[in-house]
Amino acid sequence: MTTEQLAPISPDGDDGPDSAVLACALPRAPGVLARLEGVSRSFTGVIEVLALRDVDLTIFQGDYLSIRGPSGSGKSTMLNALGLLDRPTVGRYELAGVDTGPLPDRDRTRLRGQRLGFVFQGFHLLPRRTVFENVLLGMAYSGVPRASRRARAARALERVSMTHRASFYPTTLSGGERQRVAIARAIAGEPTLLLADEPTGNLDAATSAEVLDVLEELNGAGLAVVVVTHDPDVSSAARRQFTMRDGRLREEP
Ligand SMILES: Nc1ncnc2c1ncn2[C@@H]1O[C@H](COP(=O)(O)OP(=O)(O)OP(=O)(O)O)[C@@H](O)[C@H]1O
Ligand SMILES: [Mg+2]
Repeated sequence: MTTEQLAPISPDGDDGPDSAVLACALPRAPGVLARLEGVSRSFTGVIEVLALRDVDLTIFQGDYLSIRGPSGSGKSTMLNALGLLDRPTVGRYELAGVDTGPLPDRDRTRLRGQRLGFVFQGFHLLPRRTVFENVLLGMAYSGVPRASRRARAARALERVSMTHRASFYPTTLSGGERQRVAIARAIAGEPTLLLADEPTGNLDAATSAEVLDVLEELNGAGLAVVVVTHDPDVSSAARRQFTMRDGRLREEP
């Protein structure tokens, strides 16, 4: 067992005083990147919705998981929990050797910036920023020192074959190009886990295949990937395939 220490970071990439992140460091099983134990999430409103029910999941370094399931089954809720964008109502979530439950929001943001990359169906690029600036801004909370951000952004664009569009604005790109830029933004800070929610949902079959190739290449280079998808091709590319029904996660044999 090892205990991995997370470097404290600030939005500018300078080292700052660390607090709860190190206090929550756990003995860590080798190769384990993230672990959900007995995780449930309910939403209270007119009626209570149990969006996640008692989910247990271990994600290993370099893992490649897909999650399929009907609309409303809890897939995005699950990714939001993994992405530290939401807190489970019940259960425990460990990420990179840290018990995330007791962490205050500031430390969750820091851990998210250091470890996680996000890709969404709608790309979420800033329309008034160039491709290059969008990728640079993705490193705001990554802990990457300012001085090395430009080189990292250039490298990330190269990895998704978008160097030739660095000075373009997102509105002038095709859907597949936008998604590749969004992936570059997600990986520029060199996260260990990429979370993708319907990354090909807005793309045609040929463009989806391109985006899928990029995901496979990144995973081949060691990045762990969790992809939520309705697309059978995207799903079957993953090494571990899961389905979600009524908030319950099941691994396909
Ligand atoms: N903030 C919220 N407040 C109340 N209910 C919510 C909230 N977020 C999600 N839910 C409910 O939780 C359930 C799961 O939602 P979720 O977005 O995870 O589904 P999904 O599997 O991602 O669906 P889709 O394929 O349509 O994206 C749904 O019934 C939804 O209405
Ligand atoms: Mg969803």
